[in-house]
Amino acid sequence: MAGKSSKNGSVTGAMISRDAEFRQSLNEILQERPDFISLDVEIAVPFMEISDNELSDLKVMNPEIIFLDLEDDPHIGLKFAQYLSESGELRTLVGVGPELSNELLLQAMQSGISEYLPKPIDAESLNAAIERLWRRTGRKAAVEERAPGKMIAVFSPKGGSGSTTLAVNLAVQINRLTRDRTLILDLDLELGETALHLGIEPRFSVVDLIRNFHRADSGLLASYIERHESGVEVLAAPIKPADVEMVSEDQILNILQFLKHHYDYIIVDTPKSFGATTLSAFEQADQMFLLTAADLPSLRNMMRCLPLLQNLDPRRGPEWMRLIVNRYESKGMISLGEVESMLGMKVFWTLRNDYEAVLLSANTGEPIVLTGGSDFARDVRALSAEITGVKSLKDAPKNWLRNMVGKPLKGVKMPAVVATQQEAIAHE
Ligand SMILES: Nc1ncnc2c1ncn2[C@@H]1O[C@H](COP(=O)(O)OP(=O)(O)OP(=O)(O)O)[C@@H](O)[C@H]1O
Ligand SMILES: [Mg+2]
Repeated sequence: MAGKSSKNGSVTGAMISRDAEFRQSLNEILQERPDFISLDVEIAVPFMEISDNELSDLKVMNPEIIFLDLEDDPHIGLKFAQYLSESGELRTLVGVGPELSNELLLQAMQSGISEYLPKPIDAESLNAAIERLWRRTGRKAAVEERAPGKMIAVFSPKGGSGSTTLAVNLAVQINRLTRDRTLILDLDLELGETALHLGIEPRFSVVDLIRNFHRADSGLLASYIERHESGVEVLAAPIKPADVEMVSEDQILNILQFLKHHYDYIIVDTPKSFGATTLSAFEQADQMFLLTAADLPSLRNMMRCLPLLQNLDPRRGPEWMRLIVNRYESKGMISLGEVESMLGMKVFWTLRNDYEAVLLSANTGEPIVLTGGSDFARDVRALSAEITGVKSLKDAPKNWLRNMVGKPLKGVKMPAVVATQQEAIAHE
């Protein structure tokens, strides 16, 4: 295997340099690249002081590309390059540093360095070197490679239905399963709470991105994004309610398209209104999750919205919009069959009612999929596995549940789709 790389093109990289100026300019140049070489290992000590821990980081992350600054000591640096290229995995080494004599350049190539760039580096020559490397190693040019990410919008017409809880936990779990770049986008510009659910205090918000979008690039985007410790990234709602009127449909559309080219998954928490922001999110979404509780007020609200939602884009297949019943209780007053016949739509998934666990997670800012063995967490994990096709074996359920797969529960007639959900939970 030639290093870690996510399926939509994010590439694991490493940088070994004591030169702060070089480290900063490398970071800036890489941020502009559409293939997202992320510097997951950064070593900033002299070669002789590189510790076992740092070597072990390199081994674990197994970067596909390593930027190695020889300036400190070109001779020792070349020995280190040789060590890296001989230590198992196939890696791409890019050397930087002082102008080298022909003899040293030859030695650099023999040590496994495929490209050498004298410092200071500039974007043009670095990008050209990387593209040459990718061509040589059979990787497609960066721009060709990145396919737009998948956007999933979570919507509920009734307040307090759990859309933020679902959006946040879904994003965290999808990211855990795939390790693909995953963004939570909070489009509830007035009262968005995704950051709160993640225990994050965002410095910037999606409104800052909207305001500065005319000069949006990857670097600017990075400065507005918060990264949660789980690895998921967040573009939060503003702390003070934003004036939603100032955001036009075109602005939001442009931003959504821009984000799709930077992330593999974008989970959008939408507000409870049909303003420009919400409609644009629906338009751009590859998948819509409609969330409802199985109670009359929620179902009535959903019934009133459905005609509008179904008319949004008649060209899309019925699977584009899927119904999820939240706070589900198998002994609830309204059965899933009744929900289906009221709404004229199949129930795609159920998320069980788990009041205390869900509330605790929201109050502590710790997504429940990371902490809890709660029913709700299990259902979200299974849903994430279904979406991504990645079945995690980590939290394997007890055998008794495995034995229950495919068996209907006594006295309960399950819609086919919920049987699929049980299977997914058992695969977890
Ligand atoms: N499956 C569940 N079991 C128990 N409680 C839940 C469940 N899902 C959500 N809740 C609770 O419901 C409340 C509302 O959840 P949440 O804030 O996610 O909903 P929302 O649709 O985003 O609401 P808002 O209209 O404020 O945006 C929270 O107190 C949350 O803890
Ligand atoms: Mg909400």
